[in-house]
This record gives sequence, structure tokens and C-alpha cells, in this order.
Amino acid sequence: MTKKSIIIDTDPGIDDAVALAIALFSDELDVRLITTVNGNVNLEKVTYNTLRLLQFFDKEVPVAKGAEKPLIAEPVDASNVHGETGMDGYIFEEPDNSLLLDEHAVNAMYKEIMNSNEKITLVPIGPLTNIALLLKLYPEVKENINEIVLMGGSTGRGNVSVMAEFNIYADPEAAKIVFLSGLPIVMAGLDVGLKALVYPEDSELLKDMNDTGNMIYHLFKKYRGGSFNKGLKMYDSCAIAYLLKPDLFETVDTFVDIELNGELTKGTTVVDLKGYLNQESNAKVCLDINGAEFKKWFMESIKKCK
Ligand code: RIB
Ligand code: CA
Repeated sequence: MTKKSIIIDTDPGIDDAVALAIALFSDELDVRLITTVNGNVNLEKVTYNTLRLLQFFDKEVPVAKGAEKPLIAEPVDASNVHGETGMDGYIFEEPDNSLLLDEHAVNAMYKEIMNSNEKITLVPIGPLTNIALLLKLYPEVKENINEIVLMGGSTGRGNVSVMAEFNIYADPEAAKIVFLSGLPIVMAGLDVGLKALVYPEDSELLKDMNDTGNMIYHLFKKYRGGSFNKGLKMYDSCAIAYLLKPDLFETVDTFVDIELNGELTKGTTVVDLKGYLNQESNAKVCLDINGAEFKKWFMESIKKCK
């Protein structure tokens, strides 16, 4: 079976760390490049976290640093959810920086995409700043991009403001560029992320499963994306789950735009389920997920890790 070639754009981030583990140890995915973006914590920290994770996983994937702030919006931060380091809870070894490329993430993505013999799937699981810059600077990449499978947005309420989800809220202008790019988009938003839950009994199983499970267990003790006792939200793993097990999801093809001007609603993904805006569909939106089957898949995926 040919592996799906992907580039992951990320802001680790505890749920990013879990999604990266699943992707890197999957025998169906070829992670060609990991790019980092200011998001949960600042660019230096998310890049350092990415390198620490690759060292922990013993995986040699090139890393390229991207945008240190949003296109226009003021940087936001989610250290209240992920801790000051962005990955509080586990003491990783110091990474060597040999995997860190000198070039900017956008240029690294451009080269990887244009030199690839098969189309690349982009998997952004943080704010969309790097992806927007890529599409604006090098529109020709579109010919060799299969689709964009992203974690972000919501058909309903938000998790960082009344109506906005963090990744979109953090850089709404970038999100608008991506959603209106004409590329096929899969949006795995809060509608599924809030139901992709890991419970205490699961975390206890992870603790003794393997090195990765034990590391994740310790990160989960500090993760504030939900509550350890009522269920921790595996937002970013939903994007990886869509790539590997799409039948977990109920989806609809519809039109999505991003609110940029609302005083109270900036960063909202306006998902036009009833066609009021008379626009062609530009995204496959995940409306629901089979939570029990997700959990089974999640635990089996971590079992495949080191
Ligand atoms: O809203 C959830 C998203 O914001 C996830 O990607 C999480 O890592 C944070 O970046
Ligand atoms: Ca993330």
C-alpha cells in the first residue's frame, strides 16, 4: 500500500504531541516535513517542543520554523491549557538541532511540495499563518497539493471566544486565505474535537502501555484541554484520524467563510449549512464523530508507538 505523503504544520501543544506520535508511527503516512507556527506558545517554544518530540520518538523528520506571529492579528497564547513550556508535565531530553532546517517553513514546504512525485496532503493543526503565506507567495504549489486536512473551526460555539475556535481565532486573516484558496479542505473542528475524549481509565492504560503512552500520561496530568476526570479533548488527533479512519466521521460538503470584522465574532468559521450565501462548497466539514470508535482507534494507535 502506498503511504500518504503529508506535511504537518503544528504548534505543540500537548494535543499536537499526541497527534504527531500517531502520525509518525503510522505505517500509512509518510511525514515528509514538520513545520512550526506561533500558536499555543511562541515560535521558539513550539519548535523546541517539536525537536524534543522527534528526539523522544527517535524519528528523523526535517523541521522548519515558520511564522513567529499572525499575519495581522496580535499573537494569542494558550499556555493556560498547555503550560508555560507548551508541553508541561514531562521532562524531555535536550534535543540536538540537526533536524532543524535553516530555511523558513514556507520555503521548506514549497520545495517539498514541488519536488514531490506525488501530491502532498497538508495537515495544519495550529493557526494557519504558514499555510496562508505559502499559498500567497507560491500559488503554483496548488497543482501538487492533494488536500488540506486541518484541525480548526466550529459549526457552533467557540473554545477561545464565544464563537471562535483557537486555531482560527489566532490568525483569522490567514484562515480566510486558506478557506477561499480553492483547494480541497477537510475541517475537523470543535464539533468532533469536543467528542474525541480520553478518560481517566484510558490514561491509566496509557501509563504502562509503552514509552510514548507513559509520556502522554504525564502530559495529560497538566493538559487543561478538558478535564482529566471528565475527559481530555484530542482536538489535533481528529485531523490524523480523518486521514487514517475517515469512516469515524459524519461530514457535509458546504461553504465556509471566516468572520474578520465582528467585534464579538472575529475568527468565527461561518459554516453555511443552509446555503444562505449562495456559494459553491469549499470544505468538507466534520459534523460528528463516533466517540467510542475514535477512542478504540486512538488507543490502538498509541500502542503502535515506541
Ligand atoms: O482549538 C484547539 C486547537 O488549538 C488545537 O490545535 C490545540 O493544539 C490548539 O492549538
Ligand atoms: Ca495545535
